[in-house]
Amino acid sequence: MKILIIGSGGREHALAWKIKQSPRVEKIYCAPGNGGISDIAECVAIEVTDIPALIKFAKEKKIDLTVVGPEAPLVAGIVNDFEKAKLRIFGPSREAAQLEGSKVFAKEFMHRRNIPTAVFKVFEDLSEAKKFLQQAQFPLVVKADGLAAGKGVVVCKALNEALEAVDQIMGEKIFKEAGRKIIIEECLEGEEVSILAISDGERFCLLEASQDHKRIFDDDIGPNTGGMGAYSPTPVVNSELMKKIEGRVIEPTIRGMAKEGNPFKGVLYAGLMITLDGPKVLEYNVRLGDPEAQAVLPRLKDDLVEIMTASCDGKITGEKLRWERRSCVCVVMSSGGYPGKYSTGYEITGLPTVDDPKTIIFHAGTKKEDGKFVTSGGRVLGVTSLGTGIEQAINRVYEAIEKIKFDHCFFRRDIGAKALQKANRDLSATPGGPGRR
Ligand code: AMP
Ligand code: GLY
Repeated sequence: MKILIIGSGGREHALAWKIKQSPRVEKIYCAPGNGGISDIAECVAIEVTDIPALIKFAKEKKIDLTVVGPEAPLVAGIVNDFEKAKLRIFGPSREAAQLEGSKVFAKEFMHRRNIPTAVFKVFEDLSEAKKFLQQAQFPLVVKADGLAAGKGVVVCKALNEALEAVDQIMGEKIFKEAGRKIIIEECLEGEEVSILAISDGERFCLLEASQDHKRIFDDDIGPNTGGMGAYSPTPVVNSELMKKIEGRVIEPTIRGMAKEGNPFKGVLYAGLMITLDGPKVLEYNVRLGDPEAQAVLPRLKDDLVEIMTASCDGKITGEKLRWERRSCVCVVMSSGGYPGKYSTGYEITGLPTVDDPKTIIFHAGTKKEDGKFVTSGGRVLGVTSLGTGIEQAINRVYEAIEKIKFDHCFFRRDIGAKALQKANRDLSATPGGPGRR
C-alpha cells in the first residue's frame, strides 16, 4: 500500500514510524512532514489545508490510504472532499469533526445525549456574557467556540480574569470568527486523562489510556501548551474506570453521532476530568493527541494500518487491541519561550545515531539542513522511552535527553512524576506490598 500522512508534528512522526512497521506498506509520503519524518517517508511541500493540492497528489501517486494528523483539515472537510474524489481517507467527515470544530456543538450534543460534562451556558453577546459573570461564582472556565490553536480556553480564578477573557475573545476578536460564540462553564477538579477510540461510524475499539502535561512548567504551572509530555498507561485509569468511560462517554458518543446522521469515523479523543462524581468530558478532539500518540502508538502491538483501513471500510470488529505491558513516557523538548515567542534555526546535536528499540526520538519542529537537524518550531522533539514500569521509562527518557543539545532548549523535568507517585502509593497500600513489610 501507498500511504499519505498529512501533518508535520511529533504525532505524525509517530504515525509514520508505526505505519512503517506494517508489512502491507510499501511507500509512505508525508505532507509537509519534518526533518525526522524525512528519514522514513518522502516529504512533499503541500500545506495541510491545501485540500485540492493534496487530492491531486493522492491521485497522481495512487495513494491507497491517507491519514490526517491535525484537526484543521478535518474541520475544513478534507474527508468529504477525498471521498468525493473516490480516495480512501482515515478520519471524520466535516460534520462529525464539529465535535472538535465547535465547542458549542459538542456541549449541546453531550447535553442531548446525557454524556457527563461540566454545566455550561452559551453566549453570543458580550454584554450578556459580562452580566452573567458579574453574579457568577468562581473559578469558572471561558471557552471560544471554534478552533483557536489550543489557546481558546481560559480557566478563570476571579471575575477580572473572566471579564478580560470575554473582552479579548468577543470584543477584540482575537480568535476572529472562532470567538463569535463563547461558552462559560463550571470549573471541574480532578485528574485529566486522554481516552482515544477508533471507530468505523458504528463500532469502535479503545486505545489504552494516557495522560498529557498541558502546562509549560513543572508542577502544572504557567500557560497551557499543545502538550509537554505524556505517558501510557496511567494508574489513574483502572479497568473498572475504563468500563465506566466506555459506557458513559465513548459508546453514547459514537451511537449518538450515528443516530443524528453524522457517523463518526476515525479517532475519537475524549479529554476527561476524573472528578469525585466520575468521569466528565472537558473536550472532544477528532484525531490522535500530540504528544499522546507518541506515548500510545509504541505500545500498540497490532497493525495500525489494518485498524485504520477497517475504520474506513466499516469493518471494525470491536475486538480488543493488543498492547505491550511496558510503560511509555514521551518528554517534549521545546524552544525556550514556547508557547509564547521563541527563535529557531539552532543545530540539534547528540541525537542517537543507532536505532534503539527502547528510546525513540520523534521529531516535531525540526528540519534538515546540509545533513544536520535544526530547530524550526516550538515543540522540537518528543523523546520517548519504553520501560518495565513507569520508573524505568522515566529514567531512560531523561538519560537520553541529557545527551541531546540545542540552544535555548526547554523541557519539563517532571513528566510521569505524578503517575510514579501514585503507582508507589498504590503499591504500598496493597496487602503484602512494600509498605506492609
Ligand atoms: P480544551 O482546549 O477544551 O482541552 O481545554 C484546555 C484545558 O483547559 C484542558 O485540558 C483543561 O486542563 C482545562 N479545562 C477545560 N475545561 C475545563 C473545565 N471545565 N474545568 C477545568 N479545567 C478545564
Ligand atoms: N495533547 C492535546 C491535544 O492533542 O489536543
